[in-house]
Amino acid sequence: MSTHPFHPGLLKQIAAGHGTPVYVYDEATILARINEFKAHLEGIPVRLLYAMKANHCPPLLDVMRRCGLGIDAVSPGELELVLRLGFDPAHILYSANNMTDHEMRYAVEAGVTMNIGELSGLRRLGEAFGESDVCVRINPQIGAGHHAHVVTGGDRSKFGIPVEQMDRVLDVAARYDLRIVGLHQHIGSGILSTEILWNAAAVILETARRLNDLQFINVGGGLGVPYRAGEAPLDLAEFRSTIVASIRKFVASHPSKSLEIRFEPGRYFTAESGVLLSRVNTIKRTGSRTFAGLDTGMGHLLRPALYDAWHTICNLSRPDGTPKTYDVVGNICESADFFARDRGVPELAEGDIVAILDTGAYGMSLSSTYNMRPLPAEVWIHTDGTPELIRRRLTPTEFAMAYLNEYGRR
Ligand code: LLP
Repeated sequence: MSTHPFHPGLLKQIAAGHGTPVYVYDEATILARINEFKAHLEGIPVRLLYAMKANHCPPLLDVMRRCGLGIDAVSPGELELVLRLGFDPAHILYSANNMTDHEMRYAVEAGVTMNIGELSGLRRLGEAFGESDVCVRINPQIGAGHHAHVVTGGDRSKFGIPVEQMDRVLDVAARYDLRIVGLHQHIGSGILSTEILWNAAAVILETARRLNDLQFINVGGGLGVPYRAGEAPLDLAEFRSTIVASIRKFVASHPSKSLEIRFEPGRYFTAESGVLLSRVNTIKRTGSRTFAGLDTGMGHLLRPALYDAWHTICNLSRPDGTPKTYDVVGNICESADFFARDRGVPELAEGDIVAILDTGAYGMSLSSTYNMRPLPAEVWIHTDGTPELIRRRLTPTEFAMAYLNEYGRR
């Protein structure tokens, strides 16, 4: 049984000590991913941003800051959090979707660069803050991703200004004296093909030739990780020899003397660093199925229900049991509440502890308290292997009282 990168004994100890459900994150794995990626970018002037929507627990953001990463923030809440955690505003890109004027003002006054993906947004920025610096998000008309819901480029996508409207972008910028200092794109999420990433990168580089004063080109995130055994990871050596090599030549030929290349992955840095631990509450056999019902649900890990996403499930209590086929389901009153269907798992019994792997990205950050189930606890494993409880799970009483309090009731 692989519970990469965790020691099963440590996970069992955490489940016993803190109860379930609990998310566990491994700092060493996050550092390894960052360093591995950085090593493949040598030779180009680069700044890495972290797309904090993937996982914004404070210790993880601290790691990103200590490693010199900036931030891709997409809401005032995200922005407020990273400013409070000490990130340099110069290294934050504010890429909110469909911003209000109020939101724009907040971000501009905080000193972060705005990333605008709508012509009308660019006009509004110009009207309120003429002569300011801006980054423009283009839609290169290429999209990709592990599921249709995560594709953010192409004609059906709401994101970015279609690249063929670049003349209009330049007109608006000229009218309001906006300085286009950055060009950005992000075509989707969970991409394992370097060819697709390169096809899109080629579009933004071509577009960047029209902008002599650019300070950065942000080619987005979207780098995938393998979720299933046997699935090939992104080929970083090929990434380096194709995309990075072409970018190096491009930078040398661009008139801007201070051009920086940015990437903004979320999943790649964090997905494999996390597991969700849960207890099997119920084993139930019907005519055709065997259900294993857990003490967590789609509120805590939405990806299977939302994208039919695969997460490997390990039986920590009896890893060597004979595999049996289960529908592994949650404790939420919805039929979409499942983690795996027709999945082989070493035989499960009520009381067993399971680990749901690769849940460090878009696990906790996509969670909700639907059905009034408090969020999971979170445990951080330091690089020396020591686990630390970083967020407690509220008891149902605390949870209900906090809820009533929001309504001014007790
Ligand atoms: N930059 C922008 C502008 C984005 O919208 C995103 C993700 C990223 C960067 C980071 O993408 P990543 O490197 O993590 O693929 N909830 C989905 C993923 C949605 C991603 C949304 N945008 C999932 O669980 O698969």
